Amino acid sequence: MSPARTPVIRIADLPGLVGSTVTLSGWVTHTRSSGKVAFVVMRDGTGTLQCVIVKTQVSAEAWEAFQALTLESSFTVTGEVKADARQVGGVELGVTGLAIIGPSALDYPIQPKEHGVDFLLDNRHFWLRSPRQVAIMRIRNEIEQAIHDFFYERGFLRVDTPILTAAIGERSGLFATEYFDEGNAYLAQTGQLYGEAAAAAFGKIYTFGPTFRAEKSKTRRHLTEFWMIEPEVAFNDTHANMDLQEDFVSFLVQRVVERRPAELKELGRDVETLKKVKTPFPRIDYTDAVATLQRKGSAVTWGEDLGAEDEALLVEDYETPIFICNYPKEAKAFYMKENPDDPRTVLCDDMLAPEGYGEIIGGSQREDDHDKLLHRIHEEGLPVEAYSWYLDLRKYGTFVHAGFGLGLERTVAWICGTPHIRECIAFPRMMHRLRP
Ligand code: 4AD
Ligand code: MG
Repeated sequence: MSPARTPVIRIADLPGLVGSTVTLSGWVTHTRSSGKVAFVVMRDGTGTLQCVIVKTQVSAEAWEAFQALTLESSFTVTGEVKADARQVGGVELGVTGLAIIGPSALDYPIQPKEHGVDFLLDNRHFWLRSPRQVAIMRIRNEIEQAIHDFFYERGFLRVDTPILTAAIGERSGLFATEYFDEGNAYLAQTGQLYGEAAAAAFGKIYTFGPTFRAEKSKTRRHLTEFWMIEPEVAFNDTHANMDLQEDFVSFLVQRVVERRPAELKELGRDVETLKKVKTPFPRIDYTDAVATLQRKGSAVTWGEDLGAEDEALLVEDYETPIFICNYPKEAKAFYMKENPDDPRTVLCDDMLAPEGYGEIIGGSQREDDHDKLLHRIHEEGLPVEAYSWYLDLRKYGTFVHAGFGLGLERTVAWICGTPHIRECIAFPRMMHRLRP
């Protein structure tokens, strides 16, 4: 029989273990020594811990091991958990034993000094270990979990849509790859069209997956690979669609405020600003938005999509996200439903986050009229064969339906208050970055 395994203890478990002797493993973030008493600050991904080593109270091997510790060495340490209100987590460790697992070479790239962002991105595999990056990733994870909880509680079915596709979705660039004898396959820009088919099967669905855009955009809010959450609901119109979006986004923000205060504090995020994100969010017609923008000095004209600067001008008067509704047809994708009150426009909305973070959601009621949809496909010069199954959804029991796509990294960036979305995904993919 193999010996019983002791459970692995993590730093986050220690507040409940004051007075006991534990063994933990982790990495060195900092060491200092007076010659008789030494301190090692360690991290294990769940927290940081100060370990105190008194030379006369440990073996010669343990003291030697301490002296050999370098930044980011991995090691195992045993000691008594002691309450100490001055420490993060309220505890420190009185060390009785210490052994190195893996030494770290002295030229560890990330040192406690200012590094340029390109250098940090080249060393993303290490940069991820820093407290700020850990906080962002924990908030991202909280948001992902909240997304699943929100939809599960409301009876939505999660549908995983294909990444290799023959058909297309949005207008921006496509990544192509050879696909046996079938010609090109394209990496999905959206799961929406499949989501629409699924909505007719299951009523209320959402997708949660990576999406790809070969856009040559080098802005702070564009990635070539990003994660999108796309709900699609049978019998929702554009108004119900916006109701769902505002409930969803305010749920995500309040969830982070409630459950991730330590991470928000690490990031220096103003929590009071986030607490103001309550429904309803203002719904502004595109035509009114253009008038407002022109009054504020923008050069935008009716018919154009809104750029980042225009979006920032529009949100400056609000503390919650806002909707801009019913854009001109030519500014938006072919699948959006024509607005019966103004056929120059479509029943759609962009949700713009406050504080200048810009569009986090694009949504619309879908064109459910077969002939109008076919006409739009022709107008856009899209290959009809690729969309035949999509058109079929309008031929066999067409239905009013609406949905939207939330960009995960843009949402994380806004909630974390990080200026650039490249910090909001573990390994960002951008026009000039495919490594690490
Ligand atoms: O507005 P978009 O292009 O909408 C769609 O893809 C629809 N099919 C969604 C739907 O109705 N089901 O993209 C939706 C969101 C944007 O609002 C933005 O948050 C994010 O996806 N997004 C990007 N995020 C990072 N990098 C990019 N290049 C992005 N392009 C869009
Ligand atoms: Mg959009």
